[in-house]
Amino acid sequence: MIPSVLPTYSRAPLHFVKGEGTWLIDDTGRRFLDLGSGIAVTLLGHANPILVSALTEQAQKLWHVSNLYEIPGQIALAEMLTEATFADTVFFTNSGTETAELAIKMARKYWYEKGDPDRIEIVTFEGCFHGRSSAAIAASGAPKMVKGFGPMLPGFVQVPWGDHDALRAAVTDRTAAVLIEPVQGEGGIRVLPDQCLKGLRDLCDETGALLILDEVQCGMGRTGRLFAHEWAGVTPDIMMVAKGIGGGFPLGAVLATEAAAAGMVVGTHGSTYGGNPLAMAVGQAVMKTITADGFLSDVNRKAGLLRQKLEGLVADHPDVFEEVRGAGLMLGLKCRPPAADVVKAGYAEDVILVPAGDNVARLLPPLTISDDEIAEAARRIDAAASAMAAA
Ligand SMILES: Cc1ncc(COP(=O)(O)O)c(C=O)c1O
Repeated sequence: MIPSVLPTYSRAPLHFVKGEGTWLIDDTGRRFLDLGSGIAVTLLGHANPILVSALTEQAQKLWHVSNLYEIPGQIALAEMLTEATFADTVFFTNSGTETAELAIKMARKYWYEKGDPDRIEIVTFEGCFHGRSSAAIAASGAPKMVKGFGPMLPGFVQVPWGDHDALRAAVTDRTAAVLIEPVQGEGGIRVLPDQCLKGLRDLCDETGALLILDEVQCGMGRTGRLFAHEWAGVTPDIMMVAKGIGGGFPLGAVLATEAAAAGMVVGTHGSTYGGNPLAMAVGQAVMKTITADGFLSDVNRKAGLLRQKLEGLVADHPDVFEEVRGAGLMLGLKCRPPAADVVKAGYAEDVILVPAGDNVARLLPPLTISDDEIAEAARRIDAAASAMAAA
């Protein structure tokens, strides 16, 4: 008999009932060190008092109004985002997938309005992940995501990760945009080198193609800068943000330049819940916290500490770990045994890691993780690796 919850997930038999900072507590009172943050979502830890009070204060006042009316929280958060980035304008969504939908629509509409309606192709990269909608799975092209869901939305061209020649050949006068994650998350914590992002920006400038960056997982301070592309010193035309921006409350945003967004006029897009007052209150509190003086420099310091510990684990457990990869507090341990087994061994040591593609176990701790918790994380992963080697 089909379970009452549609069985589309492979779930671990863990029943969390409470969260406190970097800790998850299950229904038996067992405390797990959470290095997954709900896959890069609980950016400031569980039940962060700043976010709890922002949410509960708003909840006492007003939960929801339609986008038929002006929502002051949207204007406030959009201004925070535009002041802090390349963007001139913002559309709020409830998830990362919805940001992919809008980014793709926006790029195609840009060319349509410019009188080039055939310029519809979106160039994507092998291993990418942009969500599970029909457009997002077409963008990914991964057989396990698209099989049985045809016909696919046309107009996507995929190139191998790191293949510059294939990229140059793929970007033509039919290319509306190039869509890329500066750090691939689901694909296995693969960092796009700064030089490549710069080269990609140049290629887009040469050809006119728009550059869409998917910072759903790597944005919002996770790599130690507000957005990952800042390390390369270039800016996109359109950027997708979600996950961490809501700190656990469903929230996403598409940021764009005025030029890129020119086609998105009244009636071209919408969302009942997008920009909901509750989400806006939490989003402002998250932005305020991570842009406060010293916050991101501390993330970078802690990232250095965690990386150093992980390098030590790779040296100590060469049969379990091959390498550390990633940026900031978005790190991956490339595993020799199946990464899923390493994650399972972590559960036995009360530490949460997240499996990713390319046989990687991901570490995406809250940016608020303490130095002591980093040391404890290393101890627990060390114990998990020792248990695996002994098995
Ligand atoms: C880079 C990236 N883009 C898009 C998405 C889709 O976001 P959501 O699951 O919130 O729809 C994800 C989710 O993992 C992601 O990592």
